[in-house]
This record gives sequence, C-alpha cells and structure tokens, in this order.
Amino acid sequence: MVFSLNTRRLVLEDMNDRDLAAMNGIARDPRVMKYVLIWLENDEQIAGFVQHAIEEAGQPDRHDYVLAIREPATGGFAGFVLFEIDPDEQTTAEAGCILRPEYWKAGYATEILRALLAFGFGTLSLHRVYAKCDQENHASAHVLEKCGLAYEGTLREHVWLRDHWRSTRYYGMLADEYRAR
Ligand SMILES: CC(C)(COP(=O)(O)OP(=O)(O)OC[C@H]1O[C@@H](n2cnc3c(N)ncnc32)[C@H](O)[C@@H]1OP(=O)(O)O)[C@@H](O)C(=O)NCCC(=O)NCCS
Repeated sequence: MVFSLNTRRLVLEDMNDRDLAAMNGIARDPRVMKYVLIWLENDEQIAGFVQHAIEEAGQPDRHDYVLAIREPATGGFAGFVLFEIDPDEQTTAEAGCILRPEYWKAGYATEILRALLAFGFGTLSLHRVYAKCDQENHASAHVLEKCGLAYEGTLREHVWLRDHWRSTRYYGMLADEYRAR
C-alpha cells in the first residue's frame, strides 16, 4: 500500500522507480542542492537514494519516510521530503524538505512541514521533531521558525561537502509545545 499524506495543496507519497528521472533532475540542480546536506553527487548515489526510499516503504517497522511531493491534479514531481525516525531513540524524528525552484516562495515548505509535524506528533505520538539547515540557508531557517520550531544551536563547520565546510543550525519542537500551539 502506498503511504501518503495530504497538505493543503500537495500530496506527499512513497516514491517509486519512475521518480528516478525527476530525482536526477533535482539532485543535479545546484540552486537546490547548494545547502542540502545529503550526498546525491552522482548517478550511483541518486539511484541508491531512490532504491532506499522504495525498500524502506516496504518495511513493517518503517523508520524512514522519503516521500515524493506531488501536485495532486497532475502527479507532477515538486520535490521530496524526509521524515526519519531515529532508530536508537524512536520517539524522535528529523524532518526535511527539498523543493524544485519553480515551487519556492509560495508557502509550500511551510504547509509541508506543518503536515509532517501533525503526522509526527499526532499519528506517531512522537516526543520530539527536529530539523537542521545550513547556517546560510535563510529561507529554510525562516520556514522552521514560522512553524514554531525553536533554535537549539549551531554545529560549527562539522562536515565538508562539495565546496565548503558546513555549519548547521538545529531547530526542534517537543510534543508539549506542539499541543500548546
Ligand atoms: C528552503 C525551501 C524548502 C523553502 O521552501 P519554500 O516553499 O520556498 O518556503 P515557504 O514559501 O514556505 O517559506 C519561505 C519563507 O522564507 C522567506 N525567504 C525566502 N528566501 C529567503 C531568504 N533568502 N532569506 C530570508 N527569507 C527568505 C520567504 O519570504 C518565506 O517567508 P514568508 O512566508 O514570511 O514570506 C526551498 O527554498 C528549497 O527547497 N530549497 C532548496 C532545498 C533546501 O535548501 N531545503 C532545505 C534543506 S534543510
């Protein structure tokens, strides 16, 4: 059965192997990947990422939700989300969202993150949802703050990816904070 979540204007659903072409497009777009801390640097890594998404969707004790973001009317691929439950601390999950540039600045990431928070705190009864972004990724930080996640700190220059040392801002929300909103 295909897992799906509806946002106001979009649907988030399990990837399938037909998404590989769109994933190749988005992963090779430097505008999109500039701040993204996922290793999608070559054909093998991109294919492996899609394959992992498909295999994980079939697991009975699923931890990773790597979902395609689609336009409901056309099925058009708008990007993808990650919602990853920590295997060692299963009351915590990390959320992330990557959109094609045509979809930026229209409030989509905000509605997607809100749907992921509802899924995490509502359906899964999680205790904590967190997200992280490159310290230069101001749009992403703004989305996280708009959705009510609290800034928790910055891990400074902890990893080298492509062209520079990455410093990462961490944001989180706890179940009580979600319920109080
Ligand atoms: C970051 C990203 C998810 C934001 O998606 P989006 O749909 O454009 O976000 P929204 O429209 O919901 O909200 C963006 C907000 O940031 C603001 N914003 C956009 N660019 C900005 C910038 N450079 N600096 C500060 N704020 C910015 C927008 O004005 C908007 O705020 P507002 O609603 O108060 O006007 C999207 O740009 C993206 O997919 N980027 C590439 C992948 C990526 O970096 N993902 C995040 C990985 S952690």
